[in-house]
Amino acid sequence: MTEDTFNKRWEEFEKRCRSCNSCGLRKDAKNVVIYRGSRRAPLMIIGEGPGKEEDEKGLPFVGQSGKLLQTLLGIYGFKPKDYHICNIVKCHPPENRRPEAYEIKACKKHLAEQFELVKPRVVLLCGSTAYEAFFGVKPVMHDVRGFFIERNGFYIMTTFHPAYALRNEKGKIPLYEDMGKVRKKLEELGAV
Ligand code: URA
Repeated sequence: MTEDTFNKRWEEFEKRCRSCNSCGLRKDAKNVVIYRGSRRAPLMIIGEGPGKEEDEKGLPFVGQSGKLLQTLLGIYGFKPKDYHICNIVKCHPPENRRPEAYEIKACKKHLAEQFELVKPRVVLLCGSTAYEAFFGVKPVMHDVRGFFIERNGFYIMTTFHPAYALRNEKGKIPLYEDMGKVRKKLEELGAV
C-alpha cells in the first residue's frame, strides 16, 4: 500500500470512528479517543477506555496511568515511532466505569480496522478488560500475564493495567518486567 493510500484509509477509518453512535458512550463524551504514537507501529498497546483526562485531551493514556506507561516506554528506549497506544473503546465511559460488553462489542469493528492498518508485530494488552475483549473470557490476571501467545504471526502479551500498578505497589515490578519482555521480543523480530 502506498503512503497516500494508507493515509487515505486512515482518514476514512478516523471518520468512521468519529461519526459512530453504535453504543451510547459518544453522547456524553467530549472526544473520540483514537490513538497516540504512530499510525503504523511494531507495538500496539491496548488499554480499557479513555479516562476523564483522555476524554478532555482526545488522546489515550495521558493521565496518571499514562505517565507510568510513558516512563516504562522511556526506560526501554521506545520512541513514538515504535508504538501505537489505543483502547478497547474509544469513548469515555461515564464515572470511569468499565465499558459494558455491548459497548465493547460495538467498538470492536473499529479496533479490528485499526489493527489491520497498524499491523503490529507485538500487542500488549493492559488489564483484564483488554484481555477479555480480545480472548472472550474473564482472566485471572496473575495467571495470564507475562508471556506471549502467538496468533497469525503476531505476539500477544497481557500485563497489569498501569492503574492497577499505581494502586498496588506489587503490580509495578511485573509491569516493568513485562515491558522488558516486549522490548526483547521486538528486538528478536528485528522490528525496533
Ligand atoms: N486507562 C485506560 O485504559 N486507557 C486510557 O487511555 C487511560 C486510562
